[in-house]
Amino acid sequence: MNVCEYIPGLENIPAAKSSISYVDGQEGILEYRGIRIEELATKGSFVETAYLLIWGELPTQEELDAFEGEIRYHRRIKYRIRDMMKCFPETGHPMDALQTSAAALGLFYARRALDNPDYIRQAVVRLLAKIPTMVAAAHQMRRGNDPIQPNDNLDYAANFLYMMTEQKPDPLAAKIFDVCLTLHAEHTINASTFSAMVTASTLTDPYAVVASAVGTLAGPLHGGANEEVLAMLEEIGSVENVRPYIEKLVANKQKIMGFGHRVYKVKDPRATILQNLAEQLFEKTGRDEYYAIAQEVEKVVEEKLGHKGIYANVDFYSGLVYRKLGIPSDLFTPLFAIARVAGWLAHWKEQLAVNRIFRPTQVYIGERNQPYVPMEKRL
Ligand code: CMC
Repeated sequence: MNVCEYIPGLENIPAAKSSISYVDGQEGILEYRGIRIEELATKGSFVETAYLLIWGELPTQEELDAFEGEIRYHRRIKYRIRDMMKCFPETGHPMDALQTSAAALGLFYARRALDNPDYIRQAVVRLLAKIPTMVAAAHQMRRGNDPIQPNDNLDYAANFLYMMTEQKPDPLAAKIFDVCLTLHAEHTINASTFSAMVTASTLTDPYAVVASAVGTLAGPLHGGANEEVLAMLEEIGSVENVRPYIEKLVANKQKIMGFGHRVYKVKDPRATILQNLAEQLFEKTGRDEYYAIAQEVEKVVEEKLGHKGIYANVDFYSGLVYRKLGIPSDLFTPLFAIARVAGWLAHWKEQLAVNRIFRPTQVYIGERNQPYVPMEKRL
């Protein structure tokens, strides 16, 4: 076997052959199964997109109705899972609550052979159906409320917003949230998807696959950045403060949250769509006080770091949209997870078809043949 050079972060090392999504980081193009994200965001729905990603083609109306119907039917979570969640500390981060709850699903749904199509379909449906319910339930319970039961009359996105407030959401808000889910559904082999694939490659159950991916998504360099963006905008506080704030970060070589991407060297196409959605929402419900600050941040960062290919990524505008939808900032990353379950499951299914356990190697740089020093002789 060839001994390869060590590449930190596995940058540019292919970890799979995949036909799920395609990114052109120079041109700012993202496609799911060959279809441009702009088309899916304007013409499709999240559940239809999840079907496309996981089963490989756009569903017929009949297939979509069946898939949506199954998801609606499986939205509720078992009372024992709710009881477990009631014991979570209300100060804990919702991503930790979600990771624990997703893993707990595996306790209730027995593992079956991974070549059983019924089991695959059931796991896909259960995870897509129950993850939003668990996010909303954990949020209600940490506030001392009973979880709000899913509403069978509402579609996927509207139902989630309903479980957050017990109010039927405004149709524009529900539509915009549905588009946000589509935009976050898949993005080739990023850290959490790789984590899902590594876990999947051991042939463990799909609930463990999703739980491991949730844990990976939680970090501030990945899904956690959207929460940090809002904290940064709050800290900046005014348009006048933007330039000195950003200049200081750049001078200190600190990362600016919501900017930069391993693949995109231009503005992330999802950031462009999200910015448009934010503007639509502001037109109807009033401007967010942080939007002007965000626009100034984008301008100054482009000026200072554009030459390095650092532009706004998907996380930069998503927080402003979610804030306008009335979602607290520590739920931004769980929303990313709700959407990304579709991509993780698509990669899980693709991985199973050609599975070989992931087992990379290392470049050993430690000592060898060292003596065992007795305790009394150690310094
Ligand atoms: N602010 C300032 N400088 C940056 C940034 C940033 N956000 N991102 C990269 N750089 C600089 C970095 O300092 C380095 O400069 P130099 O070559 O002078 O040392 C150069 O660009 C390369 O940076 P890197 O960290 O090696 O790049 P990477 O491909 O490993 O990192 C990233 C990609 C997303 C982790 C990084 O851009 C970052 O930390 N961004 C901030 C966090 C963020 O917004 N994350 C969300 C990513 S998109 C959604 C997702 O994947 O979850």
